[in-house]
Amino acid sequence: MTVTPQENLSLEAFARAYPAYLETRHLDRIRVDDFGQLDEQDLIYLDYTGSGLPSRTQLRAYEHAMGNAIWGNPHSASGPSQRSTEAMRHAREATLRFVHADPEEYSVIFTANATGALRLVGESFPFQPGARLALLRDNHNSVLGIREYARARGAITETIALRPDLRADTSAVLEVLDRAPTAPSLFAYPAQSNFSGVQHPLEWIADAHAGGWLVLLDAAAYAPISDLDLRQHKPDFVSLSYYKIFGWPTGLGCLIARTEALARLRRPWFAGGTVVASSALGGWHASAEPPDNFEDGTPDFLGVLGVPIGLDYVRQTLDREAVRTRARCLTEYLLEVMPQLRHDNGRPVCTLYGPTDMRGRGPTIAFNLLDVDGTLIDERVAENRAVQHGIALRAGCFCNPGVGETIFELDPANLVRVGTDRAGLRTLDDYRRAIGLPTGGALRISLGPVSNLDDVLAFHRYLRSWRDYRSSAGRLDTLPDRQRC
Ligand SMILES: Cc1ncc(COP(=O)(O)O)c(C=O)c1O
Repeated sequence: MTVTPQENLSLEAFARAYPAYLETRHLDRIRVDDFGQLDEQDLIYLDYTGSGLPSRTQLRAYEHAMGNAIWGNPHSASGPSQRSTEAMRHAREATLRFVHADPEEYSVIFTANATGALRLVGESFPFQPGARLALLRDNHNSVLGIREYARARGAITETIALRPDLRADTSAVLEVLDRAPTAPSLFAYPAQSNFSGVQHPLEWIADAHAGGWLVLLDAAAYAPISDLDLRQHKPDFVSLSYYKIFGWPTGLGCLIARTEALARLRRPWFAGGTVVASSALGGWHASAEPPDNFEDGTPDFLGVLGVPIGLDYVRQTLDREAVRTRARCLTEYLLEVMPQLRHDNGRPVCTLYGPTDMRGRGPTIAFNLLDVDGTLIDERVAENRAVQHGIALRAGCFCNPGVGETIFELDPANLVRVGTDRAGLRTLDDYRRAIGLPTGGALRISLGPVSNLDDVLAFHRYLRSWRDYRSSAGRLDTLPDRQRC
């Protein structure tokens, strides 16, 4: 459906092009009641891949649960301790239900975040000579980091290239997976890219299993918007951060693992909570059975109270299908109007990365702004102006260097060379210049449950404010050095 971008596009005009949007009107009421601070503070929040937002209903339910009982450190006989043990069991069950996992087949291990879940797999996976680690080039640093464990133990690591539209060819994936490993090997990829929003095929899981690989599916960016069904697709390991799904608590994630696959991992150490017995003098320890041997120390037993509350909220109150419908309408609109935006000389105002259609993607759009001469505008300049417009978006490489290297077509030989000769390189800007990045990264917007047409129109106004912009020499020098990638 074609929509002409207009400054004051009315809801009626929008709904003529995207009638399904009208079926999601209950989300407007929820926005007022539960996320009122957004409009009270005139904030256009477009960073749901960075973090979801907690609703007032969730926080009230949490306050009630926590304030009306006494909660103790779990795993002992006292009432408060038993109560916490029970709350953790309840949170694990709610998580398994959320991803349609059979409790006989999968376990939930609480971690501090998705990164904690990924590190558990990395540090415990039996990498050895003959083993392989296959990584899609589109992976978060927290997945890429697993290669350090693999390399240290003599495994071969390989990355699978992306196409220019930031999807990967299944044939390229199969080419790697068909090289049957001679030792336990791992294929790791994101169900949804945190950079481009591309949802990579879940069918690759069965392909990998057929070739004898174990699969780590990073669902951190996928689970907030899409439903994972572990009856249908059965990765060995799944990583999640709860705050991305329902905003709060922020210090809690989990590893959802097949019991069978967990038994193949070897923990490199032991800690409080992971042993049945140990001896200080004798120098030995007897590990608890999986999954208990994977939860180090005291878990966030108060935070877990928020897990069933948050999961019920997103499933029942928000209605995930409605959220997806709304996000699809708004994303499709943006994909249509952003390329139409032009400077007076006819050149485009922005360049989009990733697929330009809605097939197999989440509501995330990565892009850069271009000045009137077609030069990329430094993403920090663009981010600063977004702040002035009351827009929360994200700038940089989003901890996903492989996609940045793909969109900017960086020379692989030069990237390898910089890795072997880093003398004099200290800051991110030093590295940026050395690897030949034209700018420090891209911009990213991501929509969420209570995004609405007004948010999208405000964002479009922000984009229009760049029309006929000319980058002035010296302006970038006034910006702070980049601290992180
Ligand atoms: C796809 C993906 N994986 C992993 C992570 C790491 O999540 P966390 O920082 O919560 O550990 C993120 C965070 O943005 C992500 O988007």
